[in-house]
Amino acid sequence: MADIRANDLDAFWMPFTPNRRFKAQPRMLARAEGMHYATPEGRQVLDATSGLWCVNAGHNRPRIVEAIRRQAGEMDYAPSFNMGHPAAFAFASRIAQITPPGLDRIFFTGSGSESVDTALKIALAYHRARGKGTKTRLIGRERGYHGVGFGGISVGGIPKNRMYFGSLLTGVDHLPHTHGVAGNLFSQGLPKNGAELADALEGIVALHDASNIAAVIVEPVAGSTGVLVPPEGYLQRLRAICDRHDILLIFDEVITGFGRVGAAFAAERFGVTPDMICMAKGLTNAAVPAGAVAASEGVYQAMMDGADAPIELFHGYTYSAHPLACAAGMAALEVYQEEGLFARALEMEPYWRAAVHSLKDARHVVDIRDFGLIAGIELEPRPDAPTARALAAFETAFDQGLLIRVTGDIIALSPPLIIEKSQVDQVVETIRAVLSGVD
Ligand SMILES: Cc1ncc(COP(=O)(O)O)c(C=O)c1O
Repeated sequence: MADIRANDLDAFWMPFTPNRRFKAQPRMLARAEGMHYATPEGRQVLDATSGLWCVNAGHNRPRIVEAIRRQAGEMDYAPSFNMGHPAAFAFASRIAQITPPGLDRIFFTGSGSESVDTALKIALAYHRARGKGTKTRLIGRERGYHGVGFGGISVGGIPKNRMYFGSLLTGVDHLPHTHGVAGNLFSQGLPKNGAELADALEGIVALHDASNIAAVIVEPVAGSTGVLVPPEGYLQRLRAICDRHDILLIFDEVITGFGRVGAAFAAERFGVTPDMICMAKGLTNAAVPAGAVAASEGVYQAMMDGADAPIELFHGYTYSAHPLACAAGMAALEVYQEEGLFARALEMEPYWRAAVHSLKDARHVVDIRDFGLIAGIELEPRPDAPTARALAAFETAFDQGLLIRVTGDIIALSPPLIIEKSQVDQVVETIRAVLSGVD
């Protein structure tokens, strides 16, 4: 047995973290409020990443904190298998008010990864319930991130997230990613070139036949692999091909939901309605872990009409519709609505865009991308050590009072939607200074 004492750093096996490096030089967060974290020593850190793309209304909003406190005192937990509690139904109805019209059936999960696996399973069960049980192939995209469940890493397109974990799901294909198309460098908003990359789906249909294909899943804007904004017209083209072949289209909006791109969902901003939307993160402003899948009326009704057992979908989680999540989520939706935060993000977009693109001449920068209140700033990798430069930038920025996120050699920014213009300036100026000091 390891000799682990209370309060040392050994016991916590940290996720997606170089544990040995971190534990040699830890960075701790102790408090949070609004746009800031504070370290245990009381140093303020401006949060340019909404935690992990999730605290869209800013930290420790009193209404959300109070709602959780109240619910915990009233009923800590209730199962959702064969039982219900009022907040679950109320929360689902409230979500359905902001999902695109027709995507009104809400299945609760505990995280984004669970939402993805749920949507993939619903897609398979849906086709089977309609007597089309051969439609089983799932199609993701290179550089897609859909969480870490076996379904999510199978349709996902990040080599390191897949290569250590065996044979994954069988029957999965990947569309090409949309990054690096000639003429798209330093695009402001949607890149102009590359909509035709969606046509690769026709190639997959030609190879396997539509009678074998269940669903396509994409992030409308890919976040985790470095902010890959879809070319103009790309998502519309994917939708049309899916319609032509009776293939379900799933948008993974775990990042893009809840105002991140200046609308409730990217589906609304792009004017493209998928058959299912995966959500999590901003669903509760991240105050309680929770996720959900919004499914179309057509998908839901097919399951109700065609399922061969009283339980129409053999799927669910202990924490589906956890009372604390429902309380936090309803309070978060109220904050979003009362403060008009989705519209605020859209209004802030031009300022944000101009500010981040002003880094075009900053040291090491080879590309900048933006959409909504997201930005990706790509750095030239060190020739001998890919990712090291971005990691150094991350550590230096933290020391200078700014929390950024890095993935590969890309800085990914996604501040809370309450960010002020002066704070946008602070983000950009700190990054400029950090990059000039990092080799
Ligand atoms: C698009 C997308 N899908 C799924 C997930 C997984 O969510 P979780 O970490 O809550 O399982 C993430 C997390 O970043 C994500 O960005």
